[in-house]
Amino acid sequence: MHTLRVHDKEFEPYLTAAEIEQKIKSIAADIDRDYQGKRPLFISILNGSFMFASDLFKEIKIEAEICFIKLASYKGTKSSGHVITAIGLDIDLIDRHVIILEDIVDTGKTLSEFLPQLSHQHPLSLKIASLLHKPEATVYPIKIDYLGFSIPNKFVLGYGLDYDGLGRNIREIYQLVG
Ligand code: IMP
Repeated sequence: MHTLRVHDKEFEPYLTAAEIEQKIKSIAADIDRDYQGKRPLFISILNGSFMFASDLFKEIKIEAEICFIKLASYKGTKSSGHVITAIGLDIDLIDRHVIILEDIVDTGKTLSEFLPQLSHQHPLSLKIASLLHKPEATVYPIKIDYLGFSIPNKFVLGYGLDYDGLGRNIREIYQLVG
């Protein structure tokens, strides 16, 4: 694999497709074991997690459901600051075992704002599966229950993750050079 130019930036290979595939199989096995008989509902947060969600879901052997949502952030009142809403969440979460699928947890801001909204719907359980985590970037600590890779605080792209719209279709994960 060679370095890659996307827009104005240079990226170098970081995780191979085989490494990602192996990790996803191991996460799927853990979830199969933990959720046997519980029919979990996966909620994939678009856009970034579509590839992770698709590959992970194919490896899940137990009965399970999946839905896809998009988060929209808009400016609320002065007291509430930014408000995050979920577009497309049309399944009742009450009495469901929910597993959120994220591509990457960076500062943790997105999930820290969104998770309380899900908790309000009283799911039986609420867990997070994220392919990537940048621990050094944490501003809002999030407990990740199923994690693929802990990575340095460098911008990455590929495997669903984009840089200004490009790079989502790459099978590997690349890291910004420098
Ligand atoms: P957080 O709210 O700071 O945790 O950011 C989460 C979101 O930021 C992710 O779902 C991604 O869409 C985006 N993001 C954070 N880091 C990267 C990266 O290195 N590459 C591409 N997208 C990223």
